[in-house]
Amino acid sequence: MANIPSGNRDSFGSKFGVIAAAAGSAVGLGNIWRFPLVTTQNGGGAFLILYISFIVFIGIPVMLSEFSIGRRAQLNAFGSFKKLAPKTPWYLVGFLGILTAFAILSFYSAVAGWTLEYLVQAISGKLLHTDDYVKNFADFSTDVYRPLIWQMVFMFLTAIVVYAGVKKGIEKFTKILMPVLVILIGVVVVRSVSLPGAAEGIKYLFVPDWSAVNFKTVLMALGQAAFSLSIGMGTLITYGSYIQKDNHLLRTSSQVALADTSIAILSSLMVIPAIFAFSSVSIDQMSPGPGLVFEVLPAVFKAMPGGVIFAVVFFFLLAVAALTSTISVLEVVVAYLKEELGMTRGKATIIASVSISVLGVLATLSFSSLSGFHIFGLNIFDLLNFASANIMLTFGALFIVVFVGWKLGKSNFLDEISNKGEIKSVLHKIVFFIIRYIAPVAIGIIAVAALFIKGLT
Ligand code: TRP
Repeated sequence: MANIPSGNRDSFGSKFGVIAAAAGSAVGLGNIWRFPLVTTQNGGGAFLILYISFIVFIGIPVMLSEFSIGRRAQLNAFGSFKKLAPKTPWYLVGFLGILTAFAILSFYSAVAGWTLEYLVQAISGKLLHTDDYVKNFADFSTDVYRPLIWQMVFMFLTAIVVYAGVKKGIEKFTKILMPVLVILIGVVVVRSVSLPGAAEGIKYLFVPDWSAVNFKTVLMALGQAAFSLSIGMGTLITYGSYIQKDNHLLRTSSQVALADTSIAILSSLMVIPAIFAFSSVSIDQMSPGPGLVFEVLPAVFKAMPGGVIFAVVFFFLLAVAALTSTISVLEVVVAYLKEELGMTRGKATIIASVSISVLGVLATLSFSSLSGFHIFGLNIFDLLNFASANIMLTFGALFIVVFVGWKLGKSNFLDEISNKGEIKSVLHKIVFFIIRYIAPVAIGIIAVAALFIKGLT
């Protein structure tokens, strides 16, 4: 096999580059489109407390597991397992990650494409001159060509960044885009929380309602935390393989998790108070997904003074957040093709993005010409969404912690995260204990439950 020697591998050049790339992967549609609604509908502050506990006690340990696997092996997700556990079937976990990348990217790029359509509609003025936003979205999504063209444009943008390489593409790009994203979110938050009536929304968001919390809520909090941190499919194994040997991995993981969670909370402050101020739609009745971003928010922007500007800024920042996530998913497949099948980066990027686009076309067409086609009662888009986010990712995360806890083992893991003993921290042993005993049980429960509870995203 054409495994490239570690010395020649492309890598991230700076600590900030690592954070920007990994936080870029984590911060995406999950933060801006799903988190605000899921939180408000599931007990507000109560959900937030659960969510943050899962980020700290499960999310960071899994992220650290992925980083340590990748950095130790210096290979793609598939190759890493093969190298660290030779002659065992563990490489199948890497393979599952490659398949999951296909599934996630196919529906994610569809939605990412919608953000471009809405950005253009906002710029042209069409968006704020619409009367019926539900119809506007339905007209667009049931069109055969427009969503497909935007999806292809988005995949093309993703491919350009990945093609440019780790340091000159992914790192360079995310180092510019992530600060821009934070600033733009800040601008919209200030506008949103200063609207008359915003206080109601802020209260609704943060005041805990424990009566809304049940077993399903707990599972949703863990599922959302995993999806939001981009864990469970080898994205962070792949990125971990590009991290320098002197990087403090526990610190980096914590910073990425902090950035992701802060942006999720800021996104809620951007969206929820504005909805309370201007929308007659009850938040409890909204379904997560297209409704909030593509049907409710445009009406909010229309009612808001200066709404055109905020609509343009919002859809631009949503596209940016999605782009820094899609590049991380595509990179998983490209690194695999490059290192395991010996392709050049260029060839790997073309083959990966074209083949993912084919599956993506099916996801997009499930709103138009394929809308009558169902498997297990779900159209192709929902099936890919459900199978990847709820099933493949949770099983992926489960296998990863079991691998580190029971196969890679304590001394290898501690050696890797302490940079061969250089960093001394009691936290390292505590994290290993969680990885070995607690995380497998917690993730195992949600993985099994996800198979049985429908509608758990
Ligand atoms: N975390 C991203 C979001 O919140 C989505 C994402 C990107 C992802 N890469 C991933 C999810 C890898 C799971 C695994 O939108």
